Amino acid sequence: MSANLDVNAWMNFPNHRDNKVLEGILKRSNKNYGKAFSAESDAIYWSAESLGLDRVKAYRDASSEIQNKILADCSYALLREAFAIERAGMAFASKMVLLSDDLESRILYSQFAAQEAAHYQAIAAYIPHEPSDLASDPFLGLLKAAIEEGDRMTLTLIIQVFLEGWGLLHYKKLQKDCLNPGLADEFRQILQDEARHHGSGIALLNLDSLTDDQRNHGLRTLKSLLSMVAAGPWSVATILQRYLAEGESPTVFFSELDHVVETPQKLQQLRRILQVGGAQCFVDQLDSEKFFQLTVAQ
Ligand SMILES: [Fe+2]
Ligand SMILES: [Fe+2]
Repeated sequence: MSANLDVNAWMNFPNHRDNKVLEGILKRSNKNYGKAFSAESDAIYWSAESLGLDRVKAYRDASSEIQNKILADCSYALLREAFAIERAGMAFASKMVLLSDDLESRILYSQFAAQEAAHYQAIAAYIPHEPSDLASDPFLGLLKAAIEEGDRMTLTLIIQVFLEGWGLLHYKKLQKDCLNPGLADEFRQILQDEARHHGSGIALLNLDSLTDDQRNHGLRTLKSLLSMVAAGPWSVATILQRYLAEGESPTVFFSELDHVVETPQKLQQLRRILQVGGAQCFVDQLDSEKFFQLTVAQ
């Protein structure tokens, strides 16, 4: 059996299928179908405290109008990323259905695919429009390539153990701090599913079966992902820079956003996720090249 399927993990889809019968069926099979892009464009889902903006003097000194624009942009950035990850989740789970060679895995991934479709529709209901150029975002582009190119075991490591483990921590914070009760409820449901996706990834991970090529591919992908984390809070800093520090680098906000303390904490969380997930050999290699330290990105 070929380990490589020709899969396109679309971020922005090239086609939209207009079909009333199909729409009716999809509406009856998911409560959120058809609600995509119905949110207000200035919706705020997380507070300045949750986003760490209250520590930034220029933000505290800004008018409430500018503060609200920054909060809305930060909310949108978080949802845009979740939206794209859940879309990618459908492609990941579907590829794993076909790569499964045991009945239990085929059932498991078939269920995951349906859950990722539900997660996607839940998130899509809270953003105002189809986000553009998703695949040109470095993280989302990497995720897309990882799904398209990965073999079964490398995908188990990268997606289920590493990214879904990380996603659990990320979504827990989004759920806990969310200002919108409906969206908080959706995150609660998503978290229940994602805990199973991550847990089954740990149960299925068998790194002994990796070839040298697969091991190197997995390691390269992990290095790219860790480097992106080590680079610091670019998303929030870029939004702050757009409104409050025209002509300067977003990094001027890094110290007030606590980059030096929080980024190493995130890297250590990721190290722990790999360790608990059974990928100690990858941790040892990444440790030896200092990928869990801030210095790599500096
Ligand atoms: Fe999901
Ligand atoms: Fe998932």
